[in-house]
Amino acid sequence: MKVSSKHNYAVYIDDVDFNHMTDDQWMEIGKIHMNNLVTIIRDCNVEPNEVTNWVTKWGPLRYSGMLNICSHYPGVPAKEVISKAIRSDPSIKPEHVDVIKQRFKTKGPNGTQRVTDIKDKRGDYTGIFPDGELKWHSNEAGNHIFAPGVALLGNQNMKGSSTGFLETATFYENVSESFRSELDDMVVIHRHKPGMLHVKDLGEQDEMMRINMNPEPESYIPMVIQSPGGIKGMHYSINTVDGIVGMSKAESDKLFQDINMGLHSFKWDHWYENDNDWLFFDNSITNHRRLGDIPGRLAFRIQQGYDNIQIKDYNPYFQKEHADIYDTKLNELNTFMAENFD
Ligand SMILES: [Fe+2]
Repeated sequence: MKVSSKHNYAVYIDDVDFNHMTDDQWMEIGKIHMNNLVTIIRDCNVEPNEVTNWVTKWGPLRYSGMLNICSHYPGVPAKEVISKAIRSDPSIKPEHVDVIKQRFKTKGPNGTQRVTDIKDKRGDYTGIFPDGELKWHSNEAGNHIFAPGVALLGNQNMKGSSTGFLETATFYENVSESFRSELDDMVVIHRHKPGMLHVKDLGEQDEMMRINMNPEPESYIPMVIQSPGGIKGMHYSINTVDGIVGMSKAESDKLFQDINMGLHSFKWDHWYENDNDWLFFDNSITNHRRLGDIPGRLAFRIQQGYDNIQIKDYNPYFQKEHADIYDTKLNELNTFMAENFD
């Protein structure tokens, strides 16, 4: 196994063989990933149906969308909501039917989700983010319990496209002390803006993105948080932030402009030279994007936590009120998952 530094908080790992991978070696890769924000195993021979198995050794899958939907149907078990939605039962709101059907249509092997523009015989997309480029964002940005990490395994036609990253830690470390303490006190307002992520029209999948990104009409989340590995940076999803608490629109727009300019020099894109690179990226203080509109591109994605490798007693938030919201909401999600899916 060869580890080389790519950018600040980013490493490439080569010569990894999953036919001979041991748990110890895998946890060692996890520790390397915790000290960074982006880890890319190049030319990786892991099978798509083994992805969930390996990643959940680091921490459990994390997705709040089903809880958000089910909270509209108190007393109805999640499996019943799902089966009713699949049958387009009128007791389930049409937007929830769409989201649940989309999630089923885009299922990949063993708990993964397909990211692709490939269509089925009926002409429906079999993956999320079907085509086109994606602007800078982090997933579920407007949710206190956003997924801490994303794992994306390339499968076919990846060459000619890229996944890009923009970490905010170096910027945060390098600004003046007075600006840093202003950032520490800021709370960012997140709102859904249709078309905020896609360059092309997202059509029927826009609602799925809204429920994923911003389940509430508005949410308030501290600007400065820490990654599961304890790296301090900004929870600043560039194309989905919409204001700062206590600032006028003009003031927050100006601030966003300044920050975006400062962050500019930390962006980079991983242009695929292999169809089977496996990318692990932080989703707390790091933005990602996609460039290169390649037809027939297929990757498998999961979102997960790092409970088994993160720093002790991890909580992303330094502001007590938000640390408490995180604990309450995560507890609620874990209870919901255990009651409905275990
Ligand atoms: Fe994303």
